[in-house]
Order: sequence, then structure tokens, then C-alpha cells
Amino acid sequence: MSEYVGAIDQGTTSTRFMVFDHAGAEVGRHQLEHEQILPQAGWVEHDAAEVWARTQDVVRGGLEAAGITAADLAAVGITNQRETTVVWDRRTGEPYGNAIVWQDTRTDGIVKQLERDGHGDLIRQRTGLPPAAYFAGGKLKWILDNVDGVRADAEAGHALFGTMDTWVIWNLTGEHLTDVTNASRTMLMDLETLDWDDELLGLFGVPRQMLPEIRSSSEVYGNTRADGPFGAEVPVAGDLGDQHAALVGQACFDAGGLKNTYGTGNFLVLNTGTEIVRSQNGLITTVAYRLGDQPAAYALEGSIAVTGSAIQWLRDQLGIIDDAAESETLAASVDDTGGVAFVPAFSGLFAPYWRSDARGAIVGLSRFNTKAHLARAALEAICHQSADVVEAMVADAGLTLPELKVDGGVTLNSLCMQIQADVLGVPVVRPQVAETTALGAAYAAGLAVGVWSGTDELVENWAEGARWEPATDAEQRKTARAQWAKAVERTLDWVS
Ligand code: G3P
Repeated sequence: MSEYVGAIDQGTTSTRFMVFDHAGAEVGRHQLEHEQILPQAGWVEHDAAEVWARTQDVVRGGLEAAGITAADLAAVGITNQRETTVVWDRRTGEPYGNAIVWQDTRTDGIVKQLERDGHGDLIRQRTGLPPAAYFAGGKLKWILDNVDGVRADAEAGHALFGTMDTWVIWNLTGEHLTDVTNASRTMLMDLETLDWDDELLGLFGVPRQMLPEIRSSSEVYGNTRADGPFGAEVPVAGDLGDQHAALVGQACFDAGGLKNTYGTGNFLVLNTGTEIVRSQNGLITTVAYRLGDQPAAYALEGSIAVTGSAIQWLRDQLGIIDDAAESETLAASVDDTGGVAFVPAFSGLFAPYWRSDARGAIVGLSRFNTKAHLARAALEAICHQSADVVEAMVADAGLTLPELKVDGGVTLNSLCMQIQADVLGVPVVRPQVAETTALGAAYAAGLAVGVWSGTDELVENWAEGARWEPATDAEQRKTARAQWAKAVERTLDWVS
């Protein structure tokens, strides 16, 4: 059997296809961005047809970069930006409108109303999620209520709902399904039964027939169509939300395993084993993964909406850097932020605050400050937001953190990783393969078809690539954390 496994990572800003070998090493990749559609304040959309077009392009380009054909692939795994919601017509394959992206806050009113009507505790208990605009259920309700014809078509069985994994798999194979990790982000799935919950479907007014079948994260779902981008039939055998895939890619299979992925946002996921741990400190309870017919593993997650996208904002909206890498050189040109703190609460604040009324703030400015201070404050914000979540996890799970495993694009910014170690007071460690999201999807697919015999082999593949040791004392950390907390205070109650 071929030992190459492919992975499609359909992310928030781009889609990539990567090929890995048995050692978990990268063989080739291709990546393309898609448009961020921002029709009004708080709204973020993607054109799902464009995303599918980019997906096809990156598959073809990635196979070429790897110097292989689809016949060399044992399987393909899918991983995706989670919660982003699309509804399409099964008869034509056409979406009814743009996908509503996870960062979009238009459904804030819907979830607030559910809370006011006294349904908040039911949602929290059954799904592990606080009612928030972030999750897919409210977005689906918005589409059903606001887009012409969708509700009637859903009731007639023509309209299909999906997160981006479902959309990609449907286009690749014709199957309408999702996995437990993606379903656990909808506010519609019962965390214990791992099935759609009729009471929740009633609350959100969602016809069950438009929902995909919920499957494990690692099994053969179907074959790619020979007339699709692979040009051959390849088993699609892995499906995980990107943060869950990164946990698998980091080989965090034991309870207590923790990783922090620095992408558009930051997502810390702590494996809690087969136990469902309810957070007392603003974290989400979610499904970590389910490998075939093994019991599901659960996780506590701290989701932070804006981290890498704060750097993009410096580049695209403020124009103070030309590319993301320049954020490091510019920030390194000063020793500190010159008293400035930047809280990029562009989508409100997610974990551990869950304040949709928050908006971004830059505080502590004086005439002395330059763009270099602002760049450094952006890096510090990334690290302090992660520290807020780590502190909540320590409190919830009673763990002592020996070190923090990291991955994702921002980990290439060495200054940022040094600041992270300094803020937390523990070493920060990046594996040799920093693309753990795609790797985790490939692992899930490869496990299903026998490329890897079990998770022990994946743990053996993990190798340290870089390490940053803290260079601060407890007093410095305390002062920095207090300053950050003060800045966060300033962002609250900004919108009603
Ligand atoms: O929950 C949203 C998350 O899955 C998005 O991840 O890497 O596309 O920012 P990313």
C-alpha cells in the first residue's frame, strides 16, 4: 500500500493541500487564499463556491508539488475552519448565499434572546458551549429565517446544511456527513449521545433532514469522484475541525495533553480523556476526536478570536507593515511597548470572557509611541490572550503546566514565542512539523486505512523542532499580567 497520505486544510483565510509520508514528514503542498467578504461591521462571509474552486486548485497543485499522482495516496483527510456555515441546494450544488464565517457576530441577538428566554443552561449542559454568535446553530437559524426559500427547501429535503468539512466532502464524494468534532461546534449536538438533539433543533427551528450524518473522525466515508480534482478514486477517511486535528497532529492522545495553535485566532485545546469536564472558568467543553469505533475523547478548549488576524490588521487596515514577518523585525526594534497595550477584541472577546459587547482598544498612548510599539503590543496581546486561557485551564483541570506545545503560522515569529514563554513562565516548544493541523487530518485518514497501526506510532513521529525558555521573574510576570487585565477592562461594554 502507498504510504503517502493527503490532507486538505480548509482554513479561514486560505485552503491548503499537503502530502505526508509515513514518518509524518511533508512531501509537498500548495496553498491559496480566498476572499474575506466584509459586507458590514461585524459581518464576515466566504463564497463557498470560491472555496471549493480553491480546494480543487490546491489539490492539483499539491500533488504536482509532491511529484505524485492520486494513485500514490492511501487516503485523504479533511480539516477545516470550524463553525463557518453554508447551506446549499442538493439538486444543483449551488449555495443559497455566502457562508457565514465563525468570526461573524450578526447572530448575537439570536443567542441573547435564547439566553433571555431561559434556554442558556440547557444549551450549556447539553452542548458544552456557552450560547454565543461564534457557533454554527445561530448562523443556520439566521440563514433559515433570512434567506428567501431556504426554510421551505429545507423542509422539502432540498437544502443541506454543512460546516466547511461537510461542504468539501460533499463536493469530493457526494456524501453528506460531518464528524463529531465539527458537530460539537454547532450548539445542536448532545455531547453525551453524540447525536443531533431534537430539543435543540426545536429551539433553533432547524429541520433535521437538512443536517449531515455525524460520523467518527477516522473512518472511510467514501471515495473521491474520479472526475474531481484527484482524477481518481481515493478514500476520504479523516475529518476533524482544525483545532482537533492539531491536537492529533501534536500527538496529544493522553489526558492532560495540551496544545496552542496560532492561526487567524488562537485555540488552546486540553485533552481530558473520555471524561466530560465542565468548565467553571469560561472554557468550552468539546469533543477532542473519535477514532473509528473507539470511545470519544473530550477536551476543554479556550478559543481566542483574534491573534494572527491582528497582525493582518496591522498589514491590511493600518498599513504599518508590508508582510506578517515584518511584525517581528518592527517589534524587535524596541525593547518594550512604551506603555501601550492593544486588545484586538474585533469579534468581541471569546474565552475566557465571552463578551460580545467588547470592542478592540489601544490604550496607554503618548506622543512618544511609534508603530514599533504598536507592533510589539500586538505580539504581547497574542501571548496575554493565551495566558488568560492557560490560567483558566489550570484552574479548571487543576494541572501544572510543564511546557506549552505550540504550532501554527505565528510560531515562526520567534520574538512572539519568546514573549509567550516570558508571559507564562514556562518553556514553549514547537515540533519539527509545525503544520500539525494538516498532519492531524492525515493521521486520522491514515489510521483508518492502516497506514499507521495506532496512536503509539504517531507519538513516536513527534520530534521537537524549537524551544523558547522564559527569561522573566515572577514579579515581572505579575506586573505584565495586571497591566493586561486593566487594558481588557477598557474594552468591555462598548456596544450594547
Ligand atoms: O473555530 C474557528 C477555527 O477553527 C478557525 O481556525 O486556523 O482557520 O483560524 P483558523
